[in-house]
Amino acid sequence: MGVGETSYGGMLCYIFLLFALPWCFAHGLEANQSALLTVDASPQSGQKIPDTLFGIFFEEINHAGAGGIWAELVSNRGFEAGGPNTPSNIDPWSITGQESFIYVSTDRTSCFPRNEVALRMEVLCDNTGSVICPSDGVGIYNPGYWGMNIEQGKTYKLILYVRSLNSINISVSLTSSDGLQKLASASILADASDVSNWTRVELLLESVETNMNSRLQLTTTNKGVIWFDQVSLMPSDTYKGHGFRKELISMIEDMKPRFIRFPGGCFVEGEWLRNAFRWRETIGPWEERPGHFGDVWMYWTDDGLGYLEFLQLAEDLGASPIWVFNNGISHNDEVDTTAILPFDVLDSIEFARGSRDSKWGSVRAGMGHPEPFQLEYVAIGNEDCGKKFYRGNYMKFYYAIKAAYPDIKIISNCDGSSRPLDHPADFYDFHVYTSARNLFSMTNHFDRTSRDGPKAFVSEYAVTGSDAGTGSLLASLGEAAFLIGLERNSDVVEMASYAPLFVNTHDRRWNPDAIVFNSWQQYGTPSYWMQLFFKESSGAIFHPTKIQASFSGAALVASTITWQDPADNSKNLKIKIVNFGSDTVNLKISVSGLEAGINSLGATTVLTSGDLMDENSFDKPNKVVPASSKLPNTGTEMDVAISPHSITSFDLPLIPMEYRSAI
Ligand code: AHR
Repeated sequence: MGVGETSYGGMLCYIFLLFALPWCFAHGLEANQSALLTVDASPQSGQKIPDTLFGIFFEEINHAGAGGIWAELVSNRGFEAGGPNTPSNIDPWSITGQESFIYVSTDRTSCFPRNEVALRMEVLCDNTGSVICPSDGVGIYNPGYWGMNIEQGKTYKLILYVRSLNSINISVSLTSSDGLQKLASASILADASDVSNWTRVELLLESVETNMNSRLQLTTTNKGVIWFDQVSLMPSDTYKGHGFRKELISMIEDMKPRFIRFPGGCFVEGEWLRNAFRWRETIGPWEERPGHFGDVWMYWTDDGLGYLEFLQLAEDLGASPIWVFNNGISHNDEVDTTAILPFDVLDSIEFARGSRDSKWGSVRAGMGHPEPFQLEYVAIGNEDCGKKFYRGNYMKFYYAIKAAYPDIKIISNCDGSSRPLDHPADFYDFHVYTSARNLFSMTNHFDRTSRDGPKAFVSEYAVTGSDAGTGSLLASLGEAAFLIGLERNSDVVEMASYAPLFVNTHDRRWNPDAIVFNSWQQYGTPSYWMQLFFKESSGAIFHPTKIQASFSGAALVASTITWQDPADNSKNLKIKIVNFGSDTVNLKISVSGLEAGINSLGATTVLTSGDLMDENSFDKPNKVVPASSKLPNTGTEMDVAISPHSITSFDLPLIPMEYRSAI
């Protein structure tokens, strides 16, 4: 069948468009429908896409940070997670060795005034006398975040604080989860006089074997009382030496994110204000940070991944940091506008970008980063627009920030996509979690948005619910169509990010997520791979692209960009097509107005799978991943086949005119 022809079923789809879409799905209409895609690639019709269009949203949710990208292996390293009242729960620490020989509790004797809880370990057996300790001792162990991944030949830096009135002989070891296999060990030996006050101990452990479910043990065969505090174990090899888990960060590096929104959405708010993220409590030496319980996602964080580490990650990724701060509003309580003082956030901005001589810039410099960070965006709160004191609090923050930092761009929580905002803002936040079909049809959402007023920051989008499973192909199709709509409307949409980014499978608080991991494995969901189709879009030129289908035109969405590869300055044309329908589409592509030639060797990349609900998993991490192949005979006119339920890109290197005429 050629373009313009249609089948009976196809005609039905064509007539009913969106309404008929589910029917078309259900009846699996005949294969080989056809469509025509035309691109106007002339320079005058091109529209520059903002440099920041696609980025990432990092939230401390699903143990994405603690037990996730932050490489610290010890969970509850300061014994604070059980709360300030002692004796307290020391979970996930446990006792190893015969329990009757050891008594473990907590008290408030730490040398760190902001986190006073320390562990007290009383050993009742000895290496001589009537009550002999087992040869491998008694003590405590920490399994980390559902098992530590310890790898052969790698080194791990242990830091702990210890105190005792007796001489000590402590064995530090990395072992299998049952304690039987020893991967690495070292001893801490000291006279009583050397450890009668809190003493910092630092040592390197090199592992002789690999075990992804290991634990850290501190044991002794000596009678006496030993106090421990702030026990940290970090791999020596982290991303750019800044404490992040390399393999997880490399997955986000591949996305080429232009911004990172942090440290969360609801995590910033808290169920109650007392549990909200407080930047001040997360800076300075890690040993002195109090840590906090995030009561929305219900877990403790030691805040080793704090405000400075987020700024550092943004810098290391070459992404603009977007700092979301609490505006005096949580899920359940609010600070009245009359009592709101904006100084805390002004201090946070000074910490990020003040000179090293300023009060807070000097604190940053003391943490090893004398140069200011490039903080240019802040968001006042998260999803708080409808709250009683939001507008009042917002205005106080807005004017205080603009007075001190006129160049900082401020993001409001109120949606301005359908009606104008009633308050000043540089951008407004837009969140959408919905079904695949709804998100697919929202490809047109911003077509109707006023071209005046602040632009949108789509800081959270995803297909959720039954369409999504724990990360389905179907979800990624709806999302890709939505993103194509954002590219097309990037005159009114400045930035966009998927949410949430990470999930540790041991604490899945939100479904689905883009990157799934445990202590030693990771894979991308189809929604992760979908985003890689857009990694060249930020800063590219968008070209008007039309699809005329002989059938259900609403099931096809396409866009075209030209972009320059910074690695070699080469120019490229990229056409993306989402086929949400269940038919193969014979597509004729026609590109006009190009002021360059097309190299005859291009590539095509397809993300699809046998079933719409197909997902990746640890067992099959590559079940739904993009597959690339060479595309011979590329040119301005091409006949191609588009798979059902797919995202396809055509990547065509361009040849400058002067070279073309020389060939
Ligand atoms: O992305 C998960 C949550 O969804 C965010 O914390 C919140 O902003 C939204 O409700």
